Amino acid sequence: MSGVTLNIQPDAEGLAQAAADLISEQVRVNPSLSILVATGNTPMPTYAELARRVTAGTVDFSRVTAVQLDEYLGVSDDDPRSLWGWMRRSFVEPLRIMRTVRLESPAQFAAAVADLGGLDLAILGLGPNGHLGFNEPPSPPGAPTRTLELTPASLESNAVYWGDLAVPAGAITAGMDVILAARQALLLVSGAHKRDILHTALEGPQTPDVPASLLRRTALTVIADGAAWG
Ligand code: F6R
Repeated sequence: MSGVTLNIQPDAEGLAQAAADLISEQVRVNPSLSILVATGNTPMPTYAELARRVTAGTVDFSRVTAVQLDEYLGVSDDDPRSLWGWMRRSFVEPLRIMRTVRLESPAQFAAAVADLGGLDLAILGLGPNGHLGFNEPPSPPGAPTRTLELTPASLESNAVYWGDLAVPAGAITAGMDVILAARQALLLVSGAHKRDILHTALEGPQTPDVPASLLRRTALTVIADGAAWG
């Protein structure tokens, strides 16, 4: 696990505090940080803690650029399933971020990331099958930003977010190439249901069959709660 820093916290609240500490420190060191932003359930307490710190005036995200990680195809901005909307409500607006990169097409996204000079920090959640964004297994390190059809596994894992609404079948994701090129990756993992896949990602072979395992070739910090690691 060389290059990997593993930080185990007792519970989800400790995870949020530790992740907020790391992200805040990075923003203090580089106020113009560019951050790839996962949605999903795991990072929400971290984003809420960051919002508290912004409101308290202890950290300033006004020069940060928030970059979208993934999106469904064919959803409007006001569709509750829009990941752009979720990112705006949970991260961009509460942190008073003024600069964003929306993921609209592979070419537009690549040009925007190049304009930023690459990404400084990728905040990621761990899919139940090891996916990152919508990079489903198998996703090799060079997998580019692309549109794709969601696998049955993704449809199932995403269904929990949307109640009775159907999960859209198409999606676009930042590629493994962009994620792995970020100067630092932060993987947040919470809950006993992630324990097996977390151990596989950190201790198994580095393989496209477990996209998260490929993060071990980057500067990776994993912050997990005890349930996810124990
Ligand atoms: C969300 C995303 C997904 C999630 C992953 C874990 O933007 O890209 O890859 O990070 O499915 O989701 P949670 O955190 O809900 O367990």
